[in-house]
Amino acid sequence: MGQPLRAGDRMVVDIGPVAHGGHFIAHAAGRTLFVRHAIEGERALVEVTAVTTKVVRADAVEILRPSPWRTEPACPAAGPGGCGGCDFQHVRLEHQRELKAQVIADAFRRQAGLEDVRVEVTSLGPAEPGGPDDGLHWRTRMTWQVDEAGHAGLHAHRSHRVVRLAGCPIASAGIAAVEPWADAHRGATSVRTVQGSDGSVSVMVDGQVIGGPGRVPQQVGARQWRVDAAGFWQVHPRAPEALVDAVLQMGGPTAGSRWWDLYAGAGLFSAFLAEATGPDGRVDAVESAPASIRDARRGLHDLPQVRLHQADVAAWVDGRRGPVDGIVLDPPRGGAGAAVMVAIAAAAPRVIVYVACDPVTLARDVATAALAGYRVARLQAFDTFPMTHHVEVVAALAPSEHVDEIS
Ligand SMILES: C[S@@+](CC[C@H](N)C(=O)[O-])C[C@H]1O[C@@H](n2cnc3c(N)ncnc32)[C@H](O)[C@@H]1O
Repeated sequence: MGQPLRAGDRMVVDIGPVAHGGHFIAHAAGRTLFVRHAIEGERALVEVTAVTTKVVRADAVEILRPSPWRTEPACPAAGPGGCGGCDFQHVRLEHQRELKAQVIADAFRRQAGLEDVRVEVTSLGPAEPGGPDDGLHWRTRMTWQVDEAGHAGLHAHRSHRVVRLAGCPIASAGIAAVEPWADAHRGATSVRTVQGSDGSVSVMVDGQVIGGPGRVPQQVGARQWRVDAAGFWQVHPRAPEALVDAVLQMGGPTAGSRWWDLYAGAGLFSAFLAEATGPDGRVDAVESAPASIRDARRGLHDLPQVRLHQADVAAWVDGRRGPVDGIVLDPPRGGAGAAVMVAIAAAAPRVIVYVACDPVTLARDVATAALAGYRVARLQAFDTFPMTHHVEVVAALAPSEHVDEIS
């Protein structure tokens, strides 16, 4: 082995498979490198950006043998040293989805010992009806960081350095029209921009609404919400409908059935579960954020079969037994964790529908559920965050002896 690698070192490497987090594996000097801005099969000159005892990070700074999947990024700031918001602008969109499918399969293999998981990552279609399906203009919620001169930009990858921008091609049309990057916000820390489904845009500086509605209109099918501008809502404008459809299809709620909707946000899934169960059913929606509970209370006022619980999910499920027919859970990136998975399996629902924004924590939680007798019955994945490495996966889990009953 030669000299240990240091930040700034440059070398030529052959790029291997994609890994979770938007980078690709390569090897040099006896170390595994996590390389950004590359594609499997390429030969690239890479520059080491960080070295720890566990990982070596690098950027591909010159491509010596390009992949056929390589394309010109829509954003001039998407390359090495630039904005950290996108990971895959240099990869053709259809191949981005294939990379995400590989990451999902890899996560299930490593975390859950499932060797044969194969899922297609489905496009949500154009962000605006009638527009192109080009993976751009979908981001309806963005937080901008303000630099010392007061300019709003986005962070560089794994850094607090603010990259100034002249635009952002994944920002929704409404957010782009507001041009958050153009304003000077001297003394502020962050600017948040949120677009509603009616096209209105709220602008918050350090949590204070300075423009647009404080509660943002969101419509899904015939239902309407007004969501606190600081609260949670799905980011891609087509995501709510696609995820609700997947949850209803995999969960199969029937009239009179009983459901838990854990990590419920403003009650997106609760509303449609409750419509399906009807007045004789029951949906217990559990959410910790007071603003989201308020939004749910107003948005679901016509559905008395929904009971809202402002609580920590782990505390609420602890020791709680059924009867419950189905459980939907949509935790944040860190996943639900072993205690929650064990508790919900102990409640013995017919089906658990897990909506996940991180395939690795999903696969880890699936492994816990397997120990309690639940198996993956169905999987669907959606390209809810094009140009980034992020992906949404919906998994239906059922007791081993009933996996064939989930459609
Ligand atoms: C990914 S969002 C899902 C929201 C909702 N299902 C939707 O699609 O709009 C996760 C939600 O879980 C909530 N949350 C995070 N940790 C929680 C916890 N420990 N207990 C209860 N809710 C939690 C967050 O406030 C957020 O609203």
